[in-house]
Amino acid sequence: MTENDTVFARADGHEQVVFCNDPASGLRAVIAVHSTALGPALGGTRFYPYANEQDAVTDVLNLSKGMSYKNALAGLDHGGGKAVIIGDPAELKGEALLRSYGRFVASLGGRYITACDVGTYVADMDVIARECRFVTGRSPEHGGAGDSSVLTAFGVFQGMRACAEARWGEPTLAGRRVGVAGVGKVGRHLVAHLVEDGAEVVVTDVSDAAVRVVLDRHADARPGVSAVADTDALIAADLDVYAPCALGGALDDATVPRLTASVVCGAANNQLAHPGVEKDLADRGILYAPDYLVNAGGVIQVADEIEGFVFERARAKAAKIFDTSLQIFRSAEAEGIPPAVAADRLAEHRMAEIGRLRGFYLGGSASRP
Ligand SMILES: NC(=O)c1ccc[n+]([C@@H]2O[C@H](COP(=O)([O-])OP(=O)(O)OC[C@H]3O[C@@H](n4cnc5c(N)ncnc54)[C@H](O)[C@@H]3O)[C@@H](O)[C@H]2O)c1
Repeated sequence: MTENDTVFARADGHEQVVFCNDPASGLRAVIAVHSTALGPALGGTRFYPYANEQDAVTDVLNLSKGMSYKNALAGLDHGGGKAVIIGDPAELKGEALLRSYGRFVASLGGRYITACDVGTYVADMDVIARECRFVTGRSPEHGGAGDSSVLTAFGVFQGMRACAEARWGEPTLAGRRVGVAGVGKVGRHLVAHLVEDGAEVVVTDVSDAAVRVVLDRHADARPGVSAVADTDALIAADLDVYAPCALGGALDDATVPRLTASVVCGAANNQLAHPGVEKDLADRGILYAPDYLVNAGGVIQVADEIEGFVFERARAKAAKIFDTSLQIFRSAEAEGIPPAVAADRLAEHRMAEIGRLRGFYLGGSASRP
């Protein structure tokens, strides 16, 4: 790490970064609170065997900043935060480690609320919640909302409808050919929405079993669901819409020039492999729906759970992804900028405009936390 690359320099713009260390349970975690301008920071805990601590810090800083933007665009009263637990969950995860982690989250007094991410599950949140109130994404048996993939897929579908409106003048995928890369929890629900809307769907997944589930489920669908061998084949297929729903980095210097689709809209986090890809997409005339804009259904669900989950209320909030997406596409077009830039500006505007209100002194405990 150079003098210009200190943790403080890298955390520029973040409010707080907390290192949590409990050798007895094996816990080594970093909690990053990027912003509480809109309310308590909300974002999941990633449990991952990072190659080194630097990678873990870089990841948590990027992810927590991303959550500020995602939560702002989703219209939530939450700032952005995220946590990483360093290590292999298969080896390390157990009651003591999770409860230890829960106590560190509790020590932040509600400035950070945690949830599931890669490597952590609803059942883990139930364990963390035994030490800490600031946990969401718990199981229904423990008062939680459970799996968030249903509303995530619904939100992506709303974003895709907005893409269709912006591109073809109708908010429907009927008659379009949509490629879904990754038919796991979110992807398979997305396929169901698309089939219902009248789209032809082409899927791929590294798991043959996942593909089989989707093909069987929609065997009678018209125009139908088919599969191709891999993501390369999907990208090259004749598509109107490409929906990355597997891992991050799906859009890079190799894939963007080969895309046949004129719309990209999917659930995967961090789809752009590096800054500048959003411009490459725009230069090719491809409408890209920023991932953190359209995949916010999950965080909308876990935020709703904090108030006592009501599915219809959360679904109504996720439906607004359609309006926000359209607003962003229109301002991007009017200003001649990629939608990702327009989305960032809208999120920053909301953080500044609504965050400013917290400057009014209310006295006593009149304000919400
Ligand atoms: N679950 C949520 O609520 C949620 C919320 C926001 C964002 N996301 C993001 O959406 C994406 C999918 O999430 P999920 O919950 O469905 O995960 P998942 O693990 O259930 O599904 C991912 C699927 O992608 C497949 N896959 C992995 N590598 C692949 C490859 N190279 N090519 C094709 N398929 C591949 C896997 O086999 C799996 O079926 C992830 O990027 C996740 O971060 C999920």
